[in-house]
Amino acid sequence: MDGRVCVVTGGTGGLGRAAATALARLGASVVIVARDARRGADVVEAIRREEKGDASLVTADLSSLAGVCRAAAAIGAQWSAIHALVNNAGVSIARRRESADGIEATLAVNHVAPFLLTRLLLPALRRATPSPARVVNVSSHFARWGRLRLDDLQHRRGYVGTFAYLQSKLATIAFTLDLAERTRGAGITVNAVYPELAVTGLLRDRWWWRAAPLRPLWRTLFATPEQSAAGLVRLVADPAFATATGEVFDQRLRPVAPPRAVRDAGVRAALWRATEELVAAAPCSGELG
Ligand SMILES: NC(=O)c1ccc[n+]([C@@H]2O[C@H](COP(=O)([O-])OP(=O)(O)OC[C@H]3O[C@@H](n4cnc5c(N)ncnc54)[C@H](OP(=O)(O)O)[C@@H]3O)[C@@H](O)[C@H]2O)c1
Repeated sequence: MDGRVCVVTGGTGGLGRAAATALARLGASVVIVARDARRGADVVEAIRREEKGDASLVTADLSSLAGVCRAAAAIGAQWSAIHALVNNAGVSIARRRESADGIEATLAVNHVAPFLLTRLLLPALRRATPSPARVVNVSSHFARWGRLRLDDLQHRRGYVGTFAYLQSKLATIAFTLDLAERTRGAGITVNAVYPELAVTGLLRDRWWWRAAPLRPLWRTLFATPEQSAAGLVRLVADPAFATATGEVFDQRLRPVAPPRAVRDAGVRAALWRATEELVAAAPCSGELG
């Protein structure tokens, strides 16, 4: 991975931090996108000190359209070519809240942000040599139990955090399939992955996850972030996946069928249009790729 620029969103904890660290260990120049400057700087410092790796920080809150624009502009200004983009930042929120743009926050971070960031970075991804550049979108095995509410994408009616999360992870797959189609033959691959369940900060909003007596149980049942991130890292770095595109990979990196809810191209097109409407207000300069 020497000389390859890998952007990892949500690199301050959990799978993102583990993946960024592993990629730096493999020689990549890692760019961490983090909303918290101090936590981001700590990770960059740890990678430099412990791995003797090359790491940089871009601070941006990906829940806001302006934050995504700022992240893309900062990355574009420093790196003309990007070899990999790992859309990893994610949230699971117990009580409904809205982003600064008035978008339901789970949808904003988990779907709208990768949709906008990836498209803003397409020119830099196209410039990667050797090509193709790889976009890896982090979905979830549980997405198959989700439902796309095209008539109420933002779950204004009857919000349940888990359903909003599952929908966002379905949207990740729909976006993966459509972007792979749009970029086929253009020097970019786009795939989604279901990471192995791991003990991370994702469920920090849930009392039963935080409860001290239960924590040892989670550690027994689930993987470490490092174990779980191994799949993401292979999708970015392993030559075996150099040309795969439009695939959904399970935790052992076996290609699996996309969930039924997003197999219909018409449904995906409706989601794409709805997301375009949501990002229309983004204060970014330039055209979306
Ligand atoms: N853990 C699992 O078992 C599992 C299973 C399937 C899929 N996933 C997926 O894996 C991905 C990583 O999750 P994780 O489990 O590693 O959770 P995590 O420990 O909570 O990490 C999430 C990362 O995303 C960042 N983030 C959240 N909101 C952000 C925002 N508005 N702007 C910028 N960064 C933001 C967090 O930053 P802060 O440090 O500032 O909070 C953190 O670095 C998610 O997409 C999740 O859906 C996880």
